[in-house]
Amino acid sequence: MSKNGENIGIVGVGYVGLVTATCLAELGHNVVCMDIDSEKIALLTRGGVPIYEPGLAELIGKNRGRMTFTTALEDVFRQCEIVFIAVDTPPTFTGDADLSRVFAVISALPGLSSSHHILVMKSTVPVGTGMKISVELARQEINNIDYVSNPEFLREGSAIGDFLNPDRIVIGCREAAARQRVAALYRHMNAPVLETNIPAAEMIKYASNAFLATKISFINEIANVCEEIGADVAEVAKGMGYDKRIGSHFLKAGIGFGGSCFPKDVAALKQIAGNSGYHFQLLTAVIEVNELQKRRVVNKLKKHLGPLTDKTIALLGLAFKPNTNDLREASSIVLASRLLGDGAYVKAYDPVAIPDAARAVRGVLLCDDTLSAVEGSDAAVLVTEWEEFAHLPLADMKKRMRQYLIIDGRNFLDPAEVKAAGFTYEGIGRS
Ligand SMILES: NC(=O)c1ccc[n+]([C@@H]2O[C@H](COP(=O)([O-])OP(=O)(O)OC[C@H]3O[C@@H](n4cnc5c(N)ncnc54)[C@H](O)[C@@H]3O)[C@@H](O)[C@H]2O)c1
Repeated sequence: MSKNGENIGIVGVGYVGLVTATCLAELGHNVVCMDIDSEKIALLTRGGVPIYEPGLAELIGKNRGRMTFTTALEDVFRQCEIVFIAVDTPPTFTGDADLSRVFAVISALPGLSSSHHILVMKSTVPVGTGMKISVELARQEINNIDYVSNPEFLREGSAIGDFLNPDRIVIGCREAAARQRVAALYRHMNAPVLETNIPAAEMIKYASNAFLATKISFINEIANVCEEIGADVAEVAKGMGYDKRIGSHFLKAGIGFGGSCFPKDVAALKQIAGNSGYHFQLLTAVIEVNELQKRRVVNKLKKHLGPLTDKTIALLGLAFKPNTNDLREASSIVLASRLLGDGAYVKAYDPVAIPDAARAVRGVLLCDDTLSAVEGSDAAVLVTEWEEFAHLPLADMKKRMRQYLIIDGRNFLDPAEVKAAGFTYEGIGRS
């Protein structure tokens, strides 16, 4: 271990946990990675990487000497004073965050009588969770653990860069010593550190994601109006984005947001508000607009093709965004099931998500490349803006497709190029 390195435990090595572990190893710390998924731990131990994230396999390879993998929580607590929790917190059917995995860890804490630990929450957990955990620790008569809320803001697809160069680091904690010890882990990063209390730290994560989701639903509604009045939403967004008070990020119209964070975090914040007696009207609209946006593509297809029964639609891209294999809450899933429900045949290709797609999009014929996906299809819908779709093999596609319609769900293609190749082109909010 380097002289400034700590021994750090990571409980839950999914997208966030594995990136956190690898980046902390890169910063010179020794990390002990624990997960209940024994297959995942076996794969990591053999040198495999269970997720697709650019640069991750290489960085794990580089830091392998500082990373160990285990399924035993005792190993983590025996070797590490600082332990991050990065387990998943999926939505329940009400939209509340499901904290069962978090509390499974808390109730499985090994006997720690002789040592002091810092438990750092990386998972996104509702406001008040820190308090509930303190109560649970007290109930278990554990008084040698400090609790720190340290929400994570990385984005899949650019997770390593985001982790190592964050816009800010948020640390919520009651005990100054624990707060400073966690802050010290990030001391080489050039980012403002906000030291605050636990509820504020918890809320910052939800408020940030909800604000970004609101921006997306807002520009999607602007796009829908643009379609009616003949303006181009890309031009409108560009003009808006020059205004520093607005900013240009998250002003790309499309077929709605998906992924493992925005949908569940927006729903959870709405529930957090509702459970405290406040009806968060704006977020209700953000969610509804997003759901409707995913379905608008179906109407665009019907406008050109008529009823979709027995039509074949090719989906280009399945992952919720480019550069990840993550399909959780992807727009492709909603779209595929709507098309199947309308009696269409659905084919799909994604550069990396195909192995994970069989379970997520049942009834869809999964293909090995773009041309196989569009073979015999009446329309192609660009769902995920993978770089390889920027220049589609339009001439070859035309030879294979039955009808020549491209719906660009991410406004990613050059309309002039697509039209010049003999296709009907329709984007989102493009006149
Ligand atoms: N994915 C993102 O882009 C992102 C970004 C910021 C924050 N977050 C938050 O981080 C948390 C983790 O998200 P993720 O996408 O990495 O989830 P994930 O599903 O990819 O990984 C969670 C991991 O935790 C493991 N796990 C579950 N219960 C466990 C237990 N009791 N003990 C040990 N391991 C256990 C699972 O096996 C899995 O490997 C969530 O709260 C999420 O909201 C995610």
